[in-house]
Amino acid sequence: MASDPMDPHGDHNTSRSNQGGIHAHWMPFTSNRDFKRAPRILTGADGHHYLTSDGRQAYDAFSGLWTTGLGHCHPRIVEAVSRQIATLDYAMSFQMGNDKAFALAERLTALAPAGFGQVFFTNSGSEAADTALKIALAHHHAVGDAARTRLIGRERGYHGVNFGGLSVGGIAANRKVFGASLLPGVDHLPHTMDLDHTAFCRGQPDWGAHLADDLSRLCALHDPATIAAVIVEPVAGSTGVLPPPKGYLERLRELCTQHGILLIFDEVITAFGRVGAPFAAERFGVVPDIITTAKGLTNGAIPMGAVLVRKEIYEALMTGPEQLPELFHGYTYSGHPVAAAAGLATLEAYEQEGSFAQARALEPLFEDALHDLADHPKVIDVRNFGLMGAIELAPRWGAPGARGLEVHKSCFWDEDLIVRNGGDILQFSPFLNAKPDDIAMTFDKVRRAIDRID
Ligand SMILES: Cc1ncc(COP(=O)(O)O)c(C=O)c1O
Repeated sequence: MASDPMDPHGDHNTSRSNQGGIHAHWMPFTSNRDFKRAPRILTGADGHHYLTSDGRQAYDAFSGLWTTGLGHCHPRIVEAVSRQIATLDYAMSFQMGNDKAFALAERLTALAPAGFGQVFFTNSGSEAADTALKIALAHHHAVGDAARTRLIGRERGYHGVNFGGLSVGGIAANRKVFGASLLPGVDHLPHTMDLDHTAFCRGQPDWGAHLADDLSRLCALHDPATIAAVIVEPVAGSTGVLPPPKGYLERLRELCTQHGILLIFDEVITAFGRVGAPFAAERFGVVPDIITTAKGLTNGAIPMGAVLVRKEIYEALMTGPEQLPELFHGYTYSGHPVAAAAGLATLEAYEQEGSFAQARALEPLFEDALHDLADHPKVIDVRNFGLMGAIELAPRWGAPGARGLEVHKSCFWDEDLIVRNGGDILQFSPFLNAKPDDIAMTFDKVRRAIDRID
């Protein structure tokens, strides 16, 4: 048995004692028992690579966790965070402000679609989702439409793990053991994937715009005057990259406007260049009422989320006695100065490096490299939009998720490559500034890893 507890090669299959240093950490969305038999530990990062605990450099094909589009340890962000933590490490967020949070909110509204005037800061995408839902409810209350309390999400949608986001979310595995505690008054649109119509589609499928009409059915069923908001990811990410069918988002926008329902785009993944534009709203030419975001806001360096709202929504809430908060909501770390400094440096880097255009230019090459795997006998679908990609493997009989996990592990151990698997769906999120050769190299390695497993 290896004496270094972080050297997984010494002990692939033996459970370790607490002394080994791997038992105390209950890892999120991770098969803990499997992981701890052969831990995959990262100890450093630089640019497009991680450093592993056994001294290897591994190429990151997932930009962190859809977070780090500029690459790891970006010098501008490292410098801004270091300077900020030594200048103003924390500032009370209630009834006091800090300069960086105000500056970041201004920059974000300048980047957002026209009409967006304010930003509410959170610490994560999950908090952004719950905050957005609460703002929608508070807005209707403020304009005398308090009967609008119903929230509509979508099957296979992901809006984080807090109770609001979980309730409107539609990933069955995330919900099932919490079922009885989910929010009442929530319904779901159908998801937009149907392998008979959409398999191996490049970009947006031609089929499926009609699925947005299901909102009319929900309006008829519940009475549209009871519906507060519809929340969708413009491109569903965590469920395994489902691009919206052509015309689908446009139709949702139309129906929401017609029925006085607020439309929320959850852009935790799709903002900041991931689809070759500052926001997917801009890329698709469909403007929602509220946008949530996180991840690429700080290039993943410091946790931060944000909810962007149209001016009218903020203004409608600026009522009541002036000595009281207009919205009884907020976090100790809302607009944290170090996170805001990271956000400012990140937005400056995107602008200076032309990252959104860079990402857009990479799209065709990424799409081709991803779809080259379409001929593999173990692959049942390939999907992509912008720099978001998924390869869906046929599940092994009786062991759903096993193949995906084995490919992930083979990529790490045998190929020095970090690939995310969600069950049997391999997900890809290349750096906005990825090198074309590295994209080709990624899929050569993935093919070998798929070949290697049963
Ligand atoms: C669309 C979307 N919303 C919300 C979240 C939750 O974000 P967080 O993990 O920061 O809470 C995610 C995370 O992947 C996401 O993809």
